[in-house]
Amino acid sequence: MFWLKTKIVEGDGSLSYLSKAAKGHERVLILSSSSMKRHGFLEEAEDYVRDAGAEVFSIVGLPAEPSVEVIEEFLPKVREFNPDLLVALGGGSVIDTTKALKVFYDAPEVEFEEIAFIDRFSKPKPVPKLKTPLIAIPSTSGAGSEVSAASVLKKGDVKYNIVTPEIAPDIAILDPRLPRTMPAEVARNSGLDVLVHGIEAYTTKVANPFSDAMAIKAIKTVYKWLPLSVKGDEDARAKVHYAATMAGIAFLNARLGLCHAMSHKAAWIGPHGLLNAIFLPYVMEFNMRNDYARKRYAEIARELGFSSAKDLVEVVKELNEMLGVPKLSELVDEETFVSRVEEMAEKAYRDGLVYFNPVEPKPEEIRELYLKAFYGE
Ligand SMILES: NC(=O)c1ccc[n+]([C@@H]2O[C@H](COP(=O)([O-])OP(=O)(O)OC[C@H]3O[C@@H](n4cnc5c(N)ncnc54)[C@H](OP(=O)(O)O)[C@@H]3O)[C@@H](O)[C@H]2O)c1
Ligand SMILES: [Fe+2]
Repeated sequence: MFWLKTKIVEGDGSLSYLSKAAKGHERVLILSSSSMKRHGFLEEAEDYVRDAGAEVFSIVGLPAEPSVEVIEEFLPKVREFNPDLLVALGGGSVIDTTKALKVFYDAPEVEFEEIAFIDRFSKPKPVPKLKTPLIAIPSTSGAGSEVSAASVLKKGDVKYNIVTPEIAPDIAILDPRLPRTMPAEVARNSGLDVLVHGIEAYTTKVANPFSDAMAIKAIKTVYKWLPLSVKGDEDARAKVHYAATMAGIAFLNARLGLCHAMSHKAAWIGPHGLLNAIFLPYVMEFNMRNDYARKRYAEIARELGFSSAKDLVEVVKELNEMLGVPKLSELVDEETFVSRVEEMAEKAYRDGLVYFNPVEPKPEEIRELYLKAFYGE
């Protein structure tokens, strides 16, 4: 099965679609990160909402890599304004925060612990029907949250997902002017997340020909254009921006795998996309013991002009190197990492995404992978 809830509006200047989308609404709440205010996009968005005849209120300064505490902090403000339309203007972090706020605003009776996927061996409670529509306007080219059914939140040091079609945005506005203001590092980290989304979505147990099409197009685009996008090339930024949403559509359907399970449980170390980029080659080497995974990696390799699964691992490593992705040991010291590796491995083993990975890993194998990534073996 292939599905997509979100209507996608794209193109330079497409932010103006907000004036159409906000028509008929009375109270529109925009949730935004600081950079969107700094670069004038928040003000522009507010004007479009006013053009539609609606009242607008903005909450600015939503943080990166959100936690459950962030939701608790902002929820009273959302309730106070009582919006009938939510607009998320920012990166994956802002969109995920807004999705979670939508859950607890529309369904005040639910608790994070009951609805989040904490452990794949116990099923969470279903999220009830939610009523407030959500428009996502991504300012990074990475998470794919503008079309996905997931919100990823930190609780303590690790990340857990809320997954329900109820939080998949109703509309995604892809205006390439927004990601053009990303600093190179944000462009790199979020862009590498797109590559990981594409490769993992293409190799899960539930991939289908339609998710494959989206995954392959996203992978090829990132491979060809990410280095230029990181340098700031405007056309490349637009291409990677659309690829991010395509990869989002791929994993909305085909889900993700062990690499994301590992990065979510190592979230205390650094930005999401960067951790994924570091873990990916190790996870691929591990998955290559499986015929299906090897065949699928080889298919991707051929799409990129190479021939084998092994080539693809090399391609990923070279891209990381070319883009200056640091070693894990440059992000965290050995003693801290080693002292926590057991716990991370156990939690990653219990992450719901492991179910979709082509190989079922044992906790001690995940521990080995974390250590290999740390020592760069
Ligand atoms: N829901 C899903 O399906 C899904 C999938 C994958 C990842 N994720 C999650 O998404 C999050 C990562 O999102 P992300 O990679 O998009 O990055 P992000 O965390 O949303 O953004 C990183 C930083 O980039 C800055 N920034 C964003 N857009 C900018 C722009 N256009 N110009 C200048 N600066 C800009 C922001 O700074 P300011 O704060 O100054 O604005 C922000 O602090 C993680 O928490 C990850 O777990 C979710
Ligand atoms: Fe991701």
